[in-house]
Amino acid sequence: MRLGIITDVHLGPAQSAALAAERGQPVKLTASAEPLTRQVVQGWRERDQPELVLNLGDVLSDVSRAADLESYAHFCALLDGAQAPVLHVAGNHDQVNLGDRDLLELWQLARRWPAAIRHDSSTAYAVDFGGLRFVILSTLWLPPDGVFLGHGQLAFLERCLGSAPGPCVLLTHQPLSEMSLAGNRWFAGAPQLALIHERAQVRAVLARHGNVLAAFNGHAHWNHVDVIAGVPFITVQSLTENVGSESAPVPAAASAVVELSAAGVQLYVSGAQPLRFALRR
Ligand SMILES: [Fe+2]
Ligand SMILES: [Fe+2]
Repeated sequence: MRLGIITDVHLGPAQSAALAAERGQPVKLTASAEPLTRQVVQGWRERDQPELVLNLGDVLSDVSRAADLESYAHFCALLDGAQAPVLHVAGNHDQVNLGDRDLLELWQLARRWPAAIRHDSSTAYAVDFGGLRFVILSTLWLPPDGVFLGHGQLAFLERCLGSAPGPCVLLTHQPLSEMSLAGNRWFAGAPQLALIHERAQVRAVLARHGNVLAAFNGHAHWNHVDVIAGVPFITVQSLTENVGSESAPVPAAASAVVELSAAGVQLYVSGAQPLRFALRR
């Protein structure tokens, strides 16, 4: 199964250095979000031809409800250009102005994935595709305390892994591994806002079932891989992260293509900070 991954696109108006300084944050290269998305989608359609596309969240820069609805719908239309089905994960920036129902409607989950297993009170769901079960969990972003699994997510994960007809893949917006955030532009001073609080419990569920081939996420705005108990936990860099300097910005332009099978995982992240990773099971 060949997957195409895009994450942390952060569509929105170009940020000014003054606004970023006011927020105490670096500038996100939001002006690049749309053209880079088009570029990624074109590369997928013409070259890589993924069978399934994964959007791991933070499509938005949380401007306003109206602007975010329009930006997200535009993003979905752009992704359709890849001519492959898409699975979406809710990111914390997507959840600021939009509710779960907004996101589920934007994803057209009921129409595009009518056989999806739905969690009744969140954006969590699972679908069977190409012999794999993809399980998507929902998180709650509660700064400054942390990022937490949403209500009922562990039980939903148990249910989805327990009833899976074959191997599974786990998708979340934030990481489930134990990565160090030292040196991370966004989370070095607040690792509790990067890593899902209940990550050890999630990994215990995975270990009990033993059927998860890989877990993918975004949010941390860098590439990172941890292999824990044989499961690769893969963080993909943001499309629009500035990997240059504040005065000479360079967008990461990151997207990933993954070959995934029972035999193992092969990952290639393209862009300004390419990464190759392979794991044989
Ligand atoms: Fe992000
Ligand atoms: Fe995020």
